[in-house]
Amino acid sequence: MKNITNQPVSRVAVFPGTFDPFTKGHMDLVQRALIFFDKVIIAILDNSKKSTLFTVNERKELIAKALNDLSGRIEIDSFSGLLVEYLKTRKTQIVIRGLRAISDFDYEAQMAIMNRNLSPEVETFFLMSREEYSYISSSLVRQVALLGGDVHKFVAPSVAEAMDKKKVAIGKE
Ligand code: PNS
Repeated sequence: MKNITNQPVSRVAVFPGTFDPFTKGHMDLVQRALIFFDKVIIAILDNSKKSTLFTVNERKELIAKALNDLSGRIEIDSFSGLLVEYLKTRKTQIVIRGLRAISDFDYEAQMAIMNRNLSPEVETFFLMSREEYSYISSSLVRQVALLGGDVHKFVAPSVAEAMDKKKVAIGKE
């Protein structure tokens, strides 16, 4: 796509989330978003009020390892405060979110409409999760891991390993 001065336009999309942890569902969404966008910025919400299993830096490292991107089309970043303000700093108006089932719709629609009210140029693109990942959520994966279950089916091997170590560190083994 070209702009009015015939310069190529780079389509940059932001995929925001907590990603505690990043799952195979998230991985699949990033890969599929790259079919339609030139670059995907995975933006981890840095919210000190929310207690998370992994720190923001740990999550950044785990996402980088899980995706092992050599194309340079994926960036991993963090943000705090309003998503619409972060989008301005990244000079894009495109948000990507995944929908697993109808139960996700209310929350996602509320966020998309709130973001549009805060900043009318913001557009949220929803990608349907693949069936095999439609039951995976970060919170369920955390629960399974902390109760001793095997999470390799749901997350990249590096994430599963990190969850194992975390479990030992917090004495839940
Ligand atoms: O993976 P999550 O936890 O469902 O992601 C939620 C997230 C990070 C996309 C959402 O909480 C968010 O955008 N927070 C930033 C604060 C904000 O902009 N709130 C107003 C719009 S909902």
